Amino acid sequence: MNIDVFVTRAIPAVGIERLRAAGLEVQIHPGAPDDSPSREQILAGAQRAGVLLSLLTEPIDAGMLEAMPRLLGIANYAVGHDNIDLEAATRLGIPVSNTPGVLTESTADLTWALLLAVARRIVPGDAVMRAGRFRRWGPQLLLGQDVGPGCDGRRRTLGIVGMGRIGSAVARRACGFEMDVLAHDGQDKVAASGTARWASMDELLRKSDFVTLHVPLTTRTRHLIGAPELAIMKPGAFLVNTSRGAVVDECALVEALQRRQIAGAALDVYEHEPATAPGLTELDNVVLLPHLGSATDDTRARMATMAADNAVAMRRGEVAQHCVNPAVYGSAPYRHRLAAAPAAPDPVP
Ligand code: GLV
Ligand code: GLV
Repeated sequence: MNIDVFVTRAIPAVGIERLRAAGLEVQIHPGAPDDSPSREQILAGAQRAGVLLSLLTEPIDAGMLEAMPRLLGIANYAVGHDNIDLEAATRLGIPVSNTPGVLTESTADLTWALLLAVARRIVPGDAVMRAGRFRRWGPQLLLGQDVGPGCDGRRRTLGIVGMGRIGSAVARRACGFEMDVLAHDGQDKVAASGTARWASMDELLRKSDFVTLHVPLTTRTRHLIGAPELAIMKPGAFLVNTSRGAVVDECALVEALQRRQIAGAALDVYEHEPATAPGLTELDNVVLLPHLGSATDDTRARMATMAADNAVAMRRGEVAQHCVNPAVYGSAPYRHRLAAAPAAPDPVP
């Protein structure tokens, strides 16, 4: 080990400063900010380092983890950690951490922005203005759908799949729009939120005017929304996804949108990010963003601080506060790693 932390892509400076203030030797992969290191570059960096600070764009598979016998932990700069083979990391005694909580409100805000944008046709409206095609106000110009109770007084139904921190924050926003909120997750979790009524997936899909996804990507949630699920949604319904792209079968979604089987979709994430499914970008009933859920100055800085603090703890052989597989700390493979590691440097005075 000749560096303490290898960082796969530049993160906000406050995080790097925090690592250095802890006395740690830090190396940031020298590619352009938008370039991810290759598999080989990540491996080479991680093999020299005590801790790997990774971004969600870097897949870290079992084969790579097996080739990092001295690593003391991986601090992921994201709340999602589907880019890392957690099962393999746990088996090999490698702690993995994430950045929960700090991006909850920003991601819920972006979810709400997407929901309003797709329902009220904000993006085509903006395009009309920029193209100089706004000739006069018109009764039929870019008609959308109500989100709050319309003049018919009917409360719209929001279906939230996944009532974790972000799903619950979205439910709170829905209260202001007087929506009826259905949620699918553990019954206790939904009851504890106090903002939603539990529904089966089937009921949620059939009754919701808006369906929004807030589950982590796991083997159980991959393609949770596919052709059969899209087929039972209301024809006037909208799908919003700010979780992970692969929770939706993106090709099936494109087909459903082409056939106007549902009214529209608003997506921040894609199954094979940054690529999009054929046909998606040609549709006029979608709003598409480049994975901006947590993209505010403040949130990204907080994520950097949190990832850095997790990395510092890992380098020192301490339990990282946001470890997602804390059982590793008691394991023989982890103790073996720690015993082989040189002592962590002292903080900068
Ligand atoms: C962003 O998608 C995250 O998981 O933090
Ligand atoms: C992530 O923060 C979640 O639990 O929704």
